[in-house]
Amino acid sequence: MLRRWTAAVAAVTLLGTLAACGSDDSAGGEPDGLTMGFAQVGAESGWRTANTKSVQEAAQRAGVELKFSDAQQKQENQIKAIRSYVQQRVDVIAFSPVVETGWETVLLEAQRADIPVILTDRAIDSEDDSLYETFLGSDFVAEGRKAGEWLLQETEGEDSVAVVELEGTTGAAPAIDRHTGFTEAIAGSGVEIIASQTGDFTRSGGKQVMEAFLKAHDDIDVVYAHNDDMGLGAIEAIEAAGLTPGEDIKIITVDAVRDGMQALADGKINFIVECNPLLGDQLMDLAERVVAGEEVPKRVVVEETTFTQEEARQALPDRQY
Ligand code: AHR
Repeated sequence: MLRRWTAAVAAVTLLGTLAACGSDDSAGGEPDGLTMGFAQVGAESGWRTANTKSVQEAAQRAGVELKFSDAQQKQENQIKAIRSYVQQRVDVIAFSPVVETGWETVLLEAQRADIPVILTDRAIDSEDDSLYETFLGSDFVAEGRKAGEWLLQETEGEDSVAVVELEGTTGAAPAIDRHTGFTEAIAGSGVEIIASQTGDFTRSGGKQVMEAFLKAHDDIDVVYAHNDDMGLGAIEAIEAAGLTPGEDIKIITVDAVRDGMQALADGKINFIVECNPLLGDQLMDLAERVVAGEEVPKRVVVEETTFTQEEARQALPDRQY
């Protein structure tokens, strides 16, 4: 076990299955002695698949021995995985918390075992920030704000705009923050969220919730989906109802994975806010520095953009995921 030092508090912007919990899958490569336990959320979306691939490939490139677990969107599975990494005495633990709260006990166990923890993609809600060394991920509030600001611009001059919101997993940082950012942006305008429900970040969840929204409301102008997958599910429901997505009902999503970008280029989605899943290399770099006892920023924000339909057509040929 290598000795760790306390990370410095600073904020910077960088440019930028094991099916069941408890068993491991080494990514191979030529380990240099650094072992990482990585507790992934699940495989709920295209974004998550791209993120897992990025972490596994980066570990291999860096010679990090990766012990990977898929929590299948359940907090108790992630907690079990983290405990098992503590028992195995890995050098560093990284995880993307399914939900924001309820981590103190297990993270204290890691702290007492002197195993540094890195939060990746999603944050936790805790007053004790000594429980983790650094948090690498997007600014989800900013993402929600960008979605709301685009809609305000698009609907300028309209008295009222009825939005239905497909929320991510209840209690997850991106669901909470993307709602917050969006509502901040539309405050005081004629844009109103008339219904909001979780689709759990999945395509099937988005489809089901959208079917219910369409039955309950005949005045929907816009769908705001917290990720592409739920937006793609909503497209299926809208088409099944005999309406044209992107025209009869406008759609805004977050992520910009290939399927979402294709739907944007095809005119079925109107605007996408990017959320970058390619965190693997930055994660390995931070892990090596933390384990070597170097100071790292407490918060590392990933830089992201937005896409209109025309921008998606231009970007698609080079899109990596
Ligand atoms: O935490 C990132 C979010 O989780 C992505 O936007 C979503 O697609 C994923 O499931």
